[in-house]
Amino acid sequence: MNFVVAPSILASDLSNTTTAIRKIESIENAWVHLDIMDGCFVPMITFGSSFVRDLRKTTNLIFDVHLMVNSLEKQIELFTDAGADYITFHIEATNFPFRLIKKIKDAGKKAGISVNPSTPLLFIEPLLSSIDLLLLMGVEPGYAGQEFIDISLHKIREATSLREKNKVNVLISVDGGINNKTALNALEAGADILVMGSYFFSNSFESVKEFLSTLRSK
Ligand code: DX5
Ligand code: ZN
Repeated sequence: MNFVVAPSILASDLSNTTTAIRKIESIENAWVHLDIMDGCFVPMITFGSSFVRDLRKTTNLIFDVHLMVNSLEKQIELFTDAGADYITFHIEATNFPFRLIKKIKDAGKKAGISVNPSTPLLFIEPLLSSIDLLLLMGVEPGYAGQEFIDISLHKIREATSLREKNKVNVLISVDGGINNKTALNALEAGADILVMGSYFFSNSFESVKEFLSTLRSK
């Protein structure tokens, strides 16, 4: 199976991001997933654009920025300047998605929309032909280490059909609760990108690598 794995740096030891980045670099077809939380859209505050700007100096990996914030106009500006490659925002955080997508694209970046498990895909169907990535949450956003909500598998299948129906090339990413029990189901349902936080960073690196290569050989 061909897929991108996007380890979430938030689940790594943030006092030693160099080690986390080297691990991700040693994995085939990997991006860096950056979870930006503002203490408002979600309860926790993580890190901001200055952290991402400094991390940008340490690697050429693709930066997949996931904005879980309310103040989108300003943050999109800051993260495009900080060196993000993909910038994804939540449909639940805005009434002006087309304007935000344009802002991201005008800055030469790829645009993504994220959808919570309880938000119907009906809301994002009109946007599908304008975006590069659809980030389907496997958990409610806010914390690493939560259990995958099964309804999200159905959402992946639904998104795959919508992509075919609308004849668009959008990448489908799944974020939250992805581990050695849920990853294969997500890929079989049609996901192209697996965001992995706790599973990637809390298990022995050898076992994670072995699991990923087994998955790729399926
Ligand atoms: C949740 C974040 C996820 C999360 C992934 O709000 O968007 O990226 O950190 O962590 P795991 O894989 O531990 O669920
Ligand atoms: Zn995320």
